[in-house]
Amino acid sequence: KYEIQYHMPPVVTYDWVKKDRITKAPIWCSVDLRDGNQALIEPMSLDEKLEFFELLVKLGFKEIEIGFPAASETEYNFARALIERNMIPDDVTIQVLTQAREHIIKKTFEAINGAPSAVVHLYNSVSVAQREQVFKKNKEEIKKIAVEGAKLLDELAKEADGNISFEYSPESFTGTEMDYAVEVCNAVLDVWKPTPEKKVIINLPATVENAMPHVFACQIEYVHKNIKYRDAVTISLHPHNDRGCGVATAELGVLAGADRIEGTLFGNGERTGNVDIITLAMNMFSHGVDSGLDFSNMPAIREAYERFTGMKVYERQPYAGDLVFSAFSGSHQDAIAKGMAWREEKKLYKWTVPYLPIDPVDVGRTYESDVIRINSQSGKGGVSYILKQNYGITLPVKMRETVGYTVKQVSDEEHKELSPQWVKEIFEDNFVNH
Ligand code: KIV
Ligand code: ZN
Repeated sequence: KYEIQYHMPPVVTYDWVKKDRITKAPIWCSVDLRDGNQALIEPMSLDEKLEFFELLVKLGFKEIEIGFPAASETEYNFARALIERNMIPDDVTIQVLTQAREHIIKKTFEAINGAPSAVVHLYNSVSVAQREQVFKKNKEEIKKIAVEGAKLLDELAKEADGNISFEYSPESFTGTEMDYAVEVCNAVLDVWKPTPEKKVIINLPATVENAMPHVFACQIEYVHKNIKYRDAVTISLHPHNDRGCGVATAELGVLAGADRIEGTLFGNGERTGNVDIITLAMNMFSHGVDSGLDFSNMPAIREAYERFTGMKVYERQPYAGDLVFSAFSGSHQDAIAKGMAWREEKKLYKWTVPYLPIDPVDVGRTYESDVIRINSQSGKGGVSYILKQNYGITLPVKMRETVGYTVKQVSDEEHKELSPQWVKEIFEDNFVNH
């Protein structure tokens, strides 16, 4: 029933396989206010978008796609508000999306009139499925839509004041024959004639993630090696997450030659979402690479995100979920407690604690309330850790097993997690006030 919809490139070199990590952060572009917003049950109000924009700036984003101004009054007014209220910092570039249609392009330019700098992001769909079923046009006709759009952008940018640059997305790129996708991008580039001083962005979307991450990497590598004006082009990725592999797809895409990533906080976006920039950035951080983004107060970012989007962050969401630093089971607790003690004893700066991929403190979490948590699965190491960490009570080694057993017994009977206070009370009732 399910036809294979992706296209392997005619030549694959797999050079990216030889690299084991990303050593430099890509340019980040947040599309929370556009792709994220367009997928919400209730899109954000103008005031919410303004507040979300300020959050993105605070987190360190230098490129922010603010919307699709021709799509609605709110979108248009939001662009105008940012510009007229001088809310765009000098080092931040706003980006606006437009279809390759004359009246939409014109309205988009009207929306950004007066912006000190802006990227106009042009797209049209190029995949086999869209060409045949939606547009009923052949390859030449689809290419013409992109080229005509590119020409109009070029014309209007010359008349505009402010620093306007361009981005082109062959939408549904991954469902397109790779030689044809490159042909369309090159035709657009021939119109824009970028130079290293005036670069343009070619954005390659996995509009629907329909293949394994290494297939995407091969596709990106093919474009990277075959696109014209390569030193004047920023290759950007725009992964969605339909197969649950958006992060892997983006990471392999960067290894394969991409310079930039478009994504959202916590992966909000159409269907299963856009790629989650927080996970990508924190993955790099845990490899010692400065992402340029600041996620040191994750609980506050999470609170703002939940308020703006009306959605919840999942308990096991990497780096941010309620439970992602918690160990309930005895063997994990024992290893963490020993790792923490080792770190203290050796005065280590480097993070090597077992079972914790990063130091929870780096994302605004605490050891006291987030790491060792006690239930019926817990062990003596965890109970001793809680008593020591929270109340300065050091259990003699010989007592640990009995105390641990007594505490977990209560949790088993009550079928509940025990707070540190409850653990202390059980300890005192059974071993102190006896
Ligand atoms: O997913 C997609 O293809 C898009 C384009 C408009 C870039 O959002
Ligand atoms: Zn998208």
